[in-house]
Amino acid sequence: MKPVEIKKGIYWVGVVDWNMRSFHGHTYTTKRGTTYNAYLIVDDKITLVDTVYGPYSTDLINNISQIVPVENIDYIVVNHVEIDHSGALPEILKICPKAKLFGTEKCKEGLYRHYYADWDFQVVKTGDVLKLGKRTLSFIEVPMIHWPDSMFTYCPEEELLLPNDAFGQHYATSERFDDEVDSCALMDEAVKYYGNILWPLSSLILKKIQEVKKLNIPIDMIAPSHGIIWRTDPSKIINAYVSWASNEVKSKVVIVYETMWKSTEKMARAIASGVKDAGVSVKMFDIALSDRTEVIKEMLDAKGFLLASSTHDNDMLPTLAGFLEFLKGLKPKNRIGAAFGSYGWAGGAVKNIEISLKSAGIEVRGPGVSCKYVPDEGELKQCYEFGKEFAVKVKA
Ligand code: FEO
Repeated sequence: MKPVEIKKGIYWVGVVDWNMRSFHGHTYTTKRGTTYNAYLIVDDKITLVDTVYGPYSTDLINNISQIVPVENIDYIVVNHVEIDHSGALPEILKICPKAKLFGTEKCKEGLYRHYYADWDFQVVKTGDVLKLGKRTLSFIEVPMIHWPDSMFTYCPEEELLLPNDAFGQHYATSERFDDEVDSCALMDEAVKYYGNILWPLSSLILKKIQEVKKLNIPIDMIAPSHGIIWRTDPSKIINAYVSWASNEVKSKVVIVYETMWKSTEKMARAIASGVKDAGVSVKMFDIALSDRTEVIKEMLDAKGFLLASSTHDNDMLPTLAGFLEFLKGLKPKNRIGAAFGSYGWAGGAVKNIEISLKSAGIEVRGPGVSCKYVPDEGELKQCYEFGKEFAVKVKA
């Protein structure tokens, strides 16, 4: 993709990674691919804000070359060390070795631990201002949103916020702006991004958004480092972040189960029916067949979590066990949960799911329901009532 002028004299010079299907190792599925957004500011000082993932260094260099010779770059702002944004630095700095880098103290330390290079690096703090010519850049440290080194860059003359990972989405498109793409797909990817990457950092995010709001800086455009640029109404994504970071929830239940011979699935279907008949929206996923990233996305706004498994070796099945470990790391708040499942003789899955739910900070409401071998009509009716009762608690 060619460079795109996003503001007069400011260019998107990033790369679209159409075929990226898993991110952060394999913790995050990217069914719509992703982009690595870098921005070039043409002023008295030619400034590059962030780079791209290393294998795409040549594409970044080609894009910059269409606007200015790469050797003319004076400054490089490094908002974040992670290699999807800093990976092209070694190749860029071979061409402009005198370029000065700007980032946080943790960024300096992190870059060294990635590249072991002696680059000209100036540490900046919140409130520091860098003059480029007609424009200035000011910096806002945002530690742990989502790495210790993370930083936002703001250009007041353009009312442009460059927040790196924050407000991003893994969404590969030929278009660059929010008004050019399908808004449902865009929000779907933004929710998924928040739920799977930023959810555990919610209290920090909420605090930082309040801090930035207090600065009263006008924001006309938010240009993150992944996906689409928000130019139509940037407050839409800021307000969505406030809602997600506040752990605001809906009257909605997500059932996540793993089943050996479909008995637990029969129970799940009966329970889902009960939840629905009590007037609460429900979604259910066999976690062994589902994309975990998508399941987490559905849980981000759900009040109720129902987890279930057949018993195997006196415990839950292994895919559900792994899912519960992942969920614990996301630190959900303000949720209620319960467990259910089938067993053959000794049982154990329901008890251990309840323990896992509690350790994930989820309030377990009421005893779980278990069923020996295959549920009969009476037991399925019991499951249906269990779903109805849980839905009432979700609505309360
Ligand atoms: Fe997109 Fe934290 O890197």
